[in-house]
Amino acid sequence: MDLKDLPVWFQPEAPLGSAVRYVTGLSGKFQWVGIYLLQGKTLVLGPFLGEKTNHTRIPVGRGVCGTAVAENRDQNIPDVRALSNYLSCSLETRSELVCLIRDGDGKTVGQIDIDSHFSAAFGPEEVAAVRRVADELGTHWREIKKGRKK
Ligand code: SME
Repeated sequence: MDLKDLPVWFQPEAPLGSAVRYVTGLSGKFQWVGIYLLQGKTLVLGPFLGEKTNHTRIPVGRGVCGTAVAENRDQNIPDVRALSNYLSCSLETRSELVCLIRDGDGKTVGQIDIDSHFSAAFGPEEVAAVRRVADELGTHWREIKKGRKK
């Protein structure tokens, strides 16, 4: 991996964890940040910061996370209480953002999921910043996968 091509937040020995830490630091409104990895038809929780969650494995199509994969697009939900297809992690969550991670071939390999205790926490700036991290992870996905211990 060529170090000069890496984003400043990127720690090669823990790329996903460093992405989670970096995204958490982007806004005081991000109360839970995690990365789910797509394994077949299931999203499997990787590194996260925030409260522990029961939703460590989510089938494609279920909840906001599974919908992002099924519809092949990012999800920005200003008020999760208005959704029926929603998997609650915390009763305090009001809004949620999911940005898909796509590898060099454009294939969805995972996602960054963020919960906020604030309604409509994800404006254009927040979305662009998280989208960028998802793209940076996607760009380096091949190396990230090679280096992952599990
Ligand atoms: N709310 C998500 C589940 C994951 S938690 O937010 C950590 C969903 O509806 O898919």
